[in-house]
Amino acid sequence: MNKKLYIETYGCQMNLADTEIVSALLFESNFELTNHPEEANLILINTCSVRERAEQRIYGRLGFIKKIKEKNKNLIVGIIGCMAERLKEKIITDYPIVDLIIGPDEYRNVTKYLEQVESGEKAVGVELSLSETYEDIEQFHSNGLSAWLPIMRGCNNFCSYCIVPYTRGRERSRSFNSILNEVEKLSNQNYKEITLLGQNVNSYFWNGKDFSDLIETCAKVNRNIRIRFITSHPKDLSEKLLHCIADNENICNHLHLPLQSGSSRILELMNRKYTYEHYYDLIQKARVIIPGISITTDIIAGFPSENEEDHKATMNAIEQIKYDNAFMFKYSPREGTLAYKLEDDVAERVKIFRLSEIINLQQNISKEINDTTVGKIQLVLIEGKNKKNPEQMIGRTDNNKFVVVENNEIKIGDIVRVKIINSTSATLFAKVLT
Ligand code: SAH
Ligand code: SF4
Ligand code: F3S
Repeated sequence: MNKKLYIETYGCQMNLADTEIVSALLFESNFELTNHPEEANLILINTCSVRERAEQRIYGRLGFIKKIKEKNKNLIVGIIGCMAERLKEKIITDYPIVDLIIGPDEYRNVTKYLEQVESGEKAVGVELSLSETYEDIEQFHSNGLSAWLPIMRGCNNFCSYCIVPYTRGRERSRSFNSILNEVEKLSNQNYKEITLLGQNVNSYFWNGKDFSDLIETCAKVNRNIRIRFITSHPKDLSEKLLHCIADNENICNHLHLPLQSGSSRILELMNRKYTYEHYYDLIQKARVIIPGISITTDIIAGFPSENEEDHKATMNAIEQIKYDNAFMFKYSPREGTLAYKLEDDVAERVKIFRLSEIINLQQNISKEINDTTVGKIQLVLIEGKNKKNPEQMIGRTDNNKFVVVENNEIKIGDIVRVKIINSTSATLFAKVLT
């Protein structure tokens, strides 16, 4: 009989893809997935360390899992992902219900570590690798419609606030052919959307081929598949890539380009290696080369030494650029990073206040931009039923806006022409055109 695996995933899309790699490896050892932690033989939590709060959530989950383990003494509990890499065996010391710790470059050995646990020992695998890409492992794509496809691993940028280079190690690109084979396989399986993943996709490089070469080749495999990519770094985004997006109908007109701060002084302290002027120039170019492109970003409020003037520069940048959407965070000091050595001197209440100003401003802008889409015609990829109202379906536009569609006769996976009839800051509402 098969053993049962319950796996929860936190953090970024890279972790979602890794969960599918670990699952595939465990299927080979006779595991099958379950949605019920109570009936699992193995519970894995794929974790994120990017901010303190992300880690706190995991400790909360361990409290819940402890109760399950009290009823099922044979249950194996594993922490994998970025927290495993950052904290290593310390997690087991602090939470003895944890049996297994595996970092992002050690998944290939998951079965070996499980055997170690089954023989009564705790197991810890946290070596980072310079070459591991898992490209020979057949990732278990779980959703049937839209796939996460890692094209590289790790990060060499060392933005001063960021833990990722320490939890995921050095940057390495996956071979061009293995990515292309995967896209062809997904095309044969009738996938409708593929998102190419990397911490900094613009520095993809394999045997003379760069990211533009890669994405263009992927887009040609099947023009009916939407191709997306995250994340771009403003210091490396090339005009070649912008033209490539413009020239290929099925590469989506959406750019996620994290700004982090509108103050060039703070950007320098963040080790982002660009100024606001360089960034703004890039946005202008993108909008000329790809008319109608939607642009989203990440913002951090309250980085060490950020003063009122720096904060105003961020507010002005948001106002000037008019992002379609943004992920906005309060600075969270991460031990071991360069910024950790700087004094975390922006008072908590000031961080909260600045973040709320940023969020309010962005919400108004998102609403303004979404209002301008009312009356327009868009192509929407249908992703599922609206859980709040089964008469409606949900999906996304080419430029990554979330749409509620009033019609339950269309099917998941359909790409439908709709007319936008209403909007909020987060959602468009639409009617199908026949
Ligand atoms: N490689 C991607 C994603 C990095 S993590 C990129 O470079 O864009 C996603 C976002 O989390 C970052 O863009 C940043 O805005 C935020 N982030 C990272 N470390 C943080 C920290 N210590 N405190 C607050 N936000 C942080
Ligand atoms: Fe972190 Fe910067 Fe690398 Fe993104 S580019 S993962 S923010 S170090
Ligand atoms: Fe989090 Fe690791 Fe991704 S720290 S954001 S899960 S790379």
